[in-house]
Order: sequence, then C-alpha cells, then structure tokens
Amino acid sequence: TRRIIIDTDPGIDDAAAIAAALFDERLDIRLFTTVAGNVSVDKVTKNLLKLLAFWDKTIPVAIGSDRPLLREAINASDVHGNSGMDGYDFPESKYELLTKNHAVIEMYKVLMDSKVKTTIVGIGPLTNIALLLRLYPECAEKIEELVIMGGALGRGNQGVLSEFNIAADPEAAKIVFESKISLTMVGLDVGEKALILPKEREQIQKMNKTGDMIDHLFRKYRGGSLDTGLKMYDGCAIAYLLAPEMFDVKQAYVAVETQGMLTAGATLVDLDGYLGKEDNCRVCVDLDEQRFRQWFLEAIEKCD
Ligand code: BDR
Ligand code: CA
Repeated sequence: TRRIIIDTDPGIDDAAAIAAALFDERLDIRLFTTVAGNVSVDKVTKNLLKLLAFWDKTIPVAIGSDRPLLREAINASDVHGNSGMDGYDFPESKYELLTKNHAVIEMYKVLMDSKVKTTIVGIGPLTNIALLLRLYPECAEKIEELVIMGGALGRGNQGVLSEFNIAADPEAAKIVFESKISLTMVGLDVGEKALILPKEREQIQKMNKTGDMIDHLFRKYRGGSLDTGLKMYDGCAIAYLLAPEMFDVKQAYVAVETQGMLTAGATLVDLDGYLGKEDNCRVCVDLDEQRFRQWFLEAIEKCD
C-alpha cells in the first residue's frame, strides 16, 4: 500500500475523488487536510467531515489555511454550490475527527513519524503544502511524491490561462513547483477529458449508496454539464496514483506566473526548453478517456 495525505477543499469533484481513494486498499490515507479553495475553509472542512460520517470512516482531519498566502480567496460557489458541496442531505459532520493542531503541523507529524515515505495528493490550492515546505524544509526527504491537481498546458478555467487551484494561490504554487521534490502535475488538460457522461452517471446512481449520493451532488455540479459530461478534475489525481498507465506523461520545467497583470496563476509548461531550466515536473499531457471512465465506475463500485 501507498501512504498518502490528501489535501482538499470539497468541492463536488473532491468528494468523488475521495470516494475513489477511500475504498481502494492500495492507498493508506493517514490524514486529510483542508484548505480554503472552492469555498471557505470552515465550509470545506464541514463537508469533508460529513463525507466521513456518511462512510463511517475515522481518518483524522486537520484544518488548514483559511486564505491564500498573499491574496484574497476566490470563491467557486458558482461551480460547487453555496455550501461547496450542495445537493445531498448528509448525516451530521463527524467533528470528533478534527485534530488539535493546524494541518501543516499534522502533515509534518505524519511525514516524520514513519520510516516509509508519504505521498501528498493536493486537490485544492497549494497554500498548506507551500507552508509545510517553508516551515519544515527537512520533511522534503520524507515526501515520496507530490501529486497535484492543478495547472494547465493551455487555456484556463479561472482565467484565460489559469486553472483554479493555481490561480487561487499562485505564490504557494510557485513554492511547490520550485521545491525540487518529485512532483506530478495532473492539470486541466486531462481533467477536461475525464468526463462522466449521462450513461455512466445512470450506472453510478444505481450502484450503491455512494453512487446515489454522488449522483445527487452531480446534479448541482457546474464543472461541465449533465448532458455533455461532468469533469472529474480531482478524480484524475487519484486515477494517476492507481492507474498511471492511462495517462501520457512528459517531463518538463513548469514555471508559475505570479507577476502577470492578466496571467497570474498560469503554468508555463516548457515542453520545448525555451526557458533553459532543468525539468521540475512530470506533466500529464493526455488521458485515455475511455479507460478513465471504466476506472471511475469500478472505483465507485468498490464503495459502500
Ligand atoms: C479544480 O478547481 C476546483 O473547483 C476543483 O475541485 C478542482 O480541484 C479544477 O480547476
Ligand atoms: Ca478541489
């Protein structure tokens, strides 16, 4: 099994990604950390605690950053609803899972407490992960890999050229991309292809209680559309962990734009070496859509 920490801002596609990760026995989730992203950190934490109550899971949850490093938070309730996870009547949040310490401290403890390295999966803005690397640089050697849903090879979904998780906190993203830690960018280009089409949605709804819950959330989700397909951005990061062969991956230097008046939060994926810098990232450049859909269906089928 692979030891992981999931840093998240649920978020409807976060919820679907968490479902896929929680019930796969190859992943040993040691900790969830939350970050202000799709909506406030209080709301996303409450959502995560509801999900864990729904599945009756007892993995610790640590509350993280309530705002980006330097900027005001962006609100994505147009995509995920007012609560950040609208559309289903959940059981009460499991507040007893909350840790005493801040997410960054809990991450540090999970990393340092084990001889085995841990992978951090970031499916929200990178504020917590950047703070971890700045506060505790010694933990770099305990990180097996950072798998990040964020960034884009081309056009964005938050700005013309910027993807939401990077645009939300470009300075944090810059720290992470320049950290020299083994890093994989699972960006928008593959997220846009990871579509759940009406046929699969129907199948998912009938599968089990998780499928029914996810179908309810999907009806409120504005990442894509019910007819043309729902975009499982964050699910791609989990798919990459479990079935990397469905992705085309290239090594590249990725620069994060923090200065641009119109382009802050853009990721410049330098596939042709214009910037003359050493590669710092594995970049997912393409996805086998068919295999992704099959993988997603099988992942939800495992949930109870
Ligand atoms: C990312 O932004 C959020 O809305 C999603 O949860 C995903 O992490 C996609 O750009
Ligand atoms: Ca997310």
